[in-house]
Amino acid sequence: MKVTVVGAGNVGATCANVLAHNEVCNEVVLLDIKEGYAEGKALDMWETSPINSFDTRLVGSTNDYAKTANSDVVVITSGIPRKPGMSRDDLIATNAGIVKSVTENVIANSPEAILICVSNPLDVMTYATYLTAKKDSRKVMGMAGILDTARYRSFLALELDCSPKDIQAVLMGGHGDTMVPLPRYTTVGGIPVTELVSEERLNAIVERTKKGGGEIVNLLGTSGYYAPGAAAAQMVEAICKDQKRIFPVCAWLQGEYGMSDIYLGVPVKLGRNGIEEIIELELNSDEKALLADSAVAVRGVMQVLDDMNAVI
Ligand code: NAI
Ligand code: 2OP
Repeated sequence: MKVTVVGAGNVGATCANVLAHNEVCNEVVLLDIKEGYAEGKALDMWETSPINSFDTRLVGSTNDYAKTANSDVVVITSGIPRKPGMSRDDLIATNAGIVKSVTENVIANSPEAILICVSNPLDVMTYATYLTAKKDSRKVMGMAGILDTARYRSFLALELDCSPKDIQAVLMGGHGDTMVPLPRYTTVGGIPVTELVSEERLNAIVERTKKGGGEIVNLLGTSGYYAPGAAAAQMVEAICKDQKRIFPVCAWLQGEYGMSDIYLGVPVKLGRNGIEEIIELELNSDEKALLADSAVAVRGVMQVLDDMNAVI
């Protein structure tokens, strides 16, 4: 299997490193527009292979898409990240142009590839990828839910002083402050979390999760990358190994959850064919209302992109 990661910055490089370290595929091509940047990072990672004991080949490329030809999966991380005070939506004008041109190059060289968008604003950049790629929507998706759920799970593990491995959770909606963590569908070693954590503490953890990206931006001055890179790599692994894992993924809805023509985070089954199933949970009226609010927020930014597409 061959995987391309576009953007050799913080998230892209972290993702490539996890893919190689875990031998998810035979070859990882890292591509960036900055001269020598991807080559340097790919070489540095390859030099860890004798230490970390892996044989996944790492290839760097300065904007030469021929090297990405016939990739099975392509992860798009190119674009600018948030700075303190910026929302993900502030990135739309710059990142839409980048994502569009990158997707055109990717598709020209790897028409069969499954595409995973990571660039922000996530739901709408995934929509931009889909509009440009003109592919089956089950093969064009966005990474956010695994990251947001991981943050939620990691905060719960601290609260309960337990292993994060034992916390299972699902989270829906857009990748923004309107995301919808679902305590009702959260378990700790099979025990409903609502039996272990008070409502007040759960609400606080849900709120921290919603602002989890901003918490890191305020600490680092840029957005996080260890968890985002690992989350994107986990999606690639599920596809390359046909694992049929159940993850929250940003997917194109056509009637699911009563919504159509929108990219939104929902639980899916992820395997070699991409999104093999969108799982429809029974939501209560409060959860439905939160998901509807999140969809309104995403549609607002989609509209900005639609208006921009009239001019770019
Ligand atoms: P970064 O600035 O470290 O890396 C971005 C890389 O993209 C740079 O190396 C840049 O040279 C490259 N690039 C720009 N235009 C390009 C083009 N046309 N072709 C190829 N490469 C190009 O940024 P970072 O931290 O890696 O973040 C990348 C994106 O991912 C941002 O939009 C950020 O907001 C987003 N992000 C999304 C997350 C999610 O959960 N979906 C989580 C974290 C970041
Ligand atoms: C994050 O959630 C900013 O989307 C980025 O870390």
